[in-house]
Amino acid sequence: MKATAWWLLGMSLVLALLAGSPARGDGGEPKSPSPAEQDFLERHWGGPIPPQGEPPERFSPIERSLRPADCGACHPVQFADWQTSLHGKSMGPGVAGQLVEMLQSDPAAARSCLHCHAPLAEQAARVPGAGGGRANPVFDADLRSQGIVCAGCHVRGHQRFGPPRRAGAPPIAGPREALPHNGFTPSSAFLRSEFCAGCHQFTPDGFTLNGKPLENTFEEWRASPAARRGRHCQDCHMPDRRHLWRGIHDPEMVKSGVRIRLVTGQTRYRPGNRLRATLTIASTGVGHYFPTYVTPRVVVRAELLDGSGRLVPESVEERAIGRDVPLDLSREIADTRIPPGGRFTMKYSRRLDRPGLSLRVTVTVFPDHFYARFFEALLTSGAGQGAAQIEAALELSRRSFFAIFRRDLALT
Ligand code: HEC
Ligand code: HEC
Ligand code: HEC
Ligand code: HEC
Ligand code: HEC
Repeated sequence: MKATAWWLLGMSLVLALLAGSPARGDGGEPKSPSPAEQDFLERHWGGPIPPQGEPPERFSPIERSLRPADCGACHPVQFADWQTSLHGKSMGPGVAGQLVEMLQSDPAAARSCLHCHAPLAEQAARVPGAGGGRANPVFDADLRSQGIVCAGCHVRGHQRFGPPRRAGAPPIAGPREALPHNGFTPSSAFLRSEFCAGCHQFTPDGFTLNGKPLENTFEEWRASPAARRGRHCQDCHMPDRRHLWRGIHDPEMVKSGVRIRLVTGQTRYRPGNRLRATLTIASTGVGHYFPTYVTPRVVVRAELLDGSGRLVPESVEERAIGRDVPLDLSREIADTRIPPGGRFTMKYSRRLDRPGLSLRVTVTVFPDHFYARFFEALLTSGAGQGAAQIEAALELSRRSFFAIFRRDLALT
């Protein structure tokens, strides 16, 4: 289980970040949270989420419930979206399969995963303490399997928190006590990137490779053109407040972030001519590095095909875009990710030796490149009682790739 140690090193969540993020504003930096927002963020995410405690007496069973399906009875749109999101699948077989053994061998490590993957106190089987702690009296195993549930982001002490009502929404009539779940407390912090940072950014004292935190999405965003234009994570990942959180696993989302162009010196060539082709990928709509994590890999491939569509030997060239690390996370092998606003260029040059040749260029995204290798290694070294789940996770991670660009150009 050595390779999971990296998460632990970086684990101190970002809470320090929230407390420590300086009120800069020195030219080009995004505006910092207001003192009220800062205060909210610290209370909301400033440590492990405490148990919700006793609900107000007048709450009906459905208002007491922390289960997403029960929220969904009154918030069907958010529930339907969330179910399709990776937040709603964050206790999938890859995580759950590792936890089976880890809960026995290293309960503290297992708990640390839950901070990001199933953050409510009610989702942990044990309460921390001496000698492995004790059984958690409010543990709900079914709730744990549902991952980052609504209440993880919206409920503290059975009180609802949310963004301010939409502009133009009719005022809520009557006292809060008369509303379902006693209404809610609005905070504009829900609209800010800092709201997401707790799980998408390691603290400055967390695990780094080559001077960069392993998870650095919030800091990458802070230095991006998007941040300077006041576009927060939510503006791209929750458009119109939808709870979809599409990212590197979604072809349309990835395509929306980049502009890909293929240019050749001439449109037609004769045998004997030299082909010069240039592929550029411009990151125009990604609010952080493309991709932001060490786990995905994007492969750009150029090759020649002959008149019958067969690959011309030795014509293949490939480049990888990603932050390449070995499984033991001992070093950074390469970092070829595209910074926000930046571009990647690949030049391809070949002498064309016969008629009927065409050029094929593809850009393929492997969102789970690291995990596929990691799960393989885990199975080889022995995943114990989690083996069946890890097998399932391996299958999923091998199948998640897709092409975002493919062009065939007839040349000769
Ligand atoms: C019995 C129905 C009901 C249930 C169950 C319910 N809600 Fe609500 N909720 C409401 C109503 C009604 C409002 C007020 C909507 C409005 O007019 O803005 C509301 C408002 C909210 C808001 C504020 C929306 C905003 O505009 O910012 C949030 C967040 C919220 N609920 C979250 C939850 C969560 C999370 C759960 C489950 C743990 C839940 N609710 C369960 C009925 C319900
Ligand atoms: C600081 C927050 C954080 C912590 C703590 C954390 N993760 Fe994650 N994890 C993420 C994020 C964000 C992703 C999605 C990005 C990615 O693929 O790297 C993720 C993805 C994963 C995935 C791949 C997706 C999947 O569901 O199969 C696995 C497996 C995983 N984490 C396991 C763990 C384990 C095991 C631990 C504890 C040792 C852990 N994580 C701790 C944030 C965290
Ligand atoms: C990862 C955190 C997170 C989770 C999980 C989450 N939400 Fe939200 N929710 C937000 C944020 C952030 C906003 C505000 C987005 C914005 O305004 O751009 C929001 C907004 C809302 C609103 C106001 C919508 C509107 O149109 O005004 C409701 C209601 C709500 N969420 C309910 C839910 C329910 C129900 C679930 C579970 C099915 C859920 N949320 C899960 C973070 C979350
Ligand atoms: C409680 C921790 C937590 C919070 C808060 C949180 N996330 Fe996540 N997020 C995760 C984890 C863990 C995953 C990976 C889930 C998996 O695949 O197992 C994830 C996945 C994602 C993905 C999908 C990545 C992909 O691989 O395609 C996006 C996009 C995302 N989060 C954006 C956000 C945004 C925007 C916010 C703030 C509104 C936010 N997250 C808040 C923990 C969190
Ligand atoms: C300007 C739009 C934009 C903003 C702002 C933005 N993102 Fe993204 N994000 C994207 C696009 C497009 C993708 C898909 C391409 C990719 O994976 O980089 C993406 C991908 C992701 C992924 C997938 C994992 C990966 O390795 O790429 C995560 C997680 C994520 N974003 C989280 C966040 C968080 C957290 C914030 C705020 C700190 C944020 N994003 C801000 C556009 C944005």
